[in-house]
Amino acid sequence: MPSTASRLNYIKTSPIRRIASLLDEVRRRSDIISFGGGAPSLPPPKEIIDYLVDKLRNDTQKTVGYCGTRGLPELRELISNDLKENYGIEYDPSSEIIITDGGTEGIFLALSSIIEKGDEVIIMDPTYLGYSEAIKLLEGRVRKIPVKVEDGYQPNLEDLKHIISPVTKAFILLSPDNPTGRIIKEEFVKGLVDLAVDNDFWIIYDAAYKYITYDAVNPWVDKYSGARERTITINTFSKEASLPGFRLGYSTGPKEIIDAMEKIKQYVSLAPDTVGQYALLKFYQDGIKEKYLKDIVIPTYKKRRDLMYSLIKEHLPDAKTVKPEGAFYFFVDISHYLELMNRDDEEFANRLLYRKNVIVIPGSHFGDTGRNHIRMTFVSESEERIIEGLRRIGAFVFSYTL
Ligand SMILES: Cc1ncc(COP(=O)(O)O)c(C=O)c1O
Repeated sequence: MPSTASRLNYIKTSPIRRIASLLDEVRRRSDIISFGGGAPSLPPPKEIIDYLVDKLRNDTQKTVGYCGTRGLPELRELISNDLKENYGIEYDPSSEIIITDGGTEGIFLALSSIIEKGDEVIIMDPTYLGYSEAIKLLEGRVRKIPVKVEDGYQPNLEDLKHIISPVTKAFILLSPDNPTGRIIKEEFVKGLVDLAVDNDFWIIYDAAYKYITYDAVNPWVDKYSGARERTITINTFSKEASLPGFRLGYSTGPKEIIDAMEKIKQYVSLAPDTVGQYALLKFYQDGIKEKYLKDIVIPTYKKRRDLMYSLIKEHLPDAKTVKPEGAFYFFVDISHYLELMNRDDEEFANRLLYRKNVIVIPGSHFGDTGRNHIRMTFVSESEERIIEGLRRIGAFVFSYTL
């Protein structure tokens, strides 16, 4: 057999994807409780589905046809209005917005548009798993700044200043954050934008969870002076519309970047999925999005978050964590227990699944600073099952630490 490309030797397979396939395999074992992957368990707005069924029946050819590589103009226009309403910034729907195959493609197209071999991209540690391998695949170099539970998982501007080099090409900001749920402080964003201007690098702002916030206001990077011409935003309908299977999202950025992303997308996926885009037109109409987020998504997740927080305190009193201000994850430092159990976070997660049928993600998967942590999402299980899952985790730890 001829060989595969050698650059793949440096790329890790995503552990979350492995867990997603594991979940598919074991789904029939109904007593598995998953605090693993961040796939919303809430149904999307019913109006979207009704509209889609109707469109497919009555306007079939148009709904299943190809669209342009940037996506449907009417969807881009609605996105532009939505961003203007929420952040007061106008994005030209024809030149500054592109529809992508989820945030994942947005990240890849953005990075592919800017990285030259040897360029450095700064990310946080721990952070979302989708960045480092994409950077490496494009022959860029990953640099990291650590964030710690003691600081509420807030990054430090001094750490950033120290790591910037002549080949720094971009900084990836994620807020609300995965895996920690923290919302970035405004002072950091201001400092970051100043550094990006002074050192001429891009800010890739992953706003996957921008509308899923509980207590704090999430800053929109483009609002800060100097940011607009150097910021690419990544957005997704997987989280805010609970439609991960649609594989749709969008990016905003300066015209030149959107042109570059379109050029690459032509050869990656030709165009985004038309069927899902038609359905999403409805998301932005008749106040459906606002009502869905305000009446269903936020109250449901907030209740689950508060419940999980009190259960962590009850069953793992010596663990350290920060109550998430947005997104839907707890990042929990369980070093105290791991030491008593003489295990690392990966062994902990494996044994917990084997013995108690509960899935958590080892923190080390998100970076070295994530060692001795676990990530638990409260997005995919009901309150009853969150109670049962934490009870099982408590019993599991207790059985080792007697
Ligand atoms: C921070 C972040 N960015 C991007 C994504 C990609 O999501 P999708 O490709 O479903 O839009 C995820 C998914 O979990 C995420 O957590």
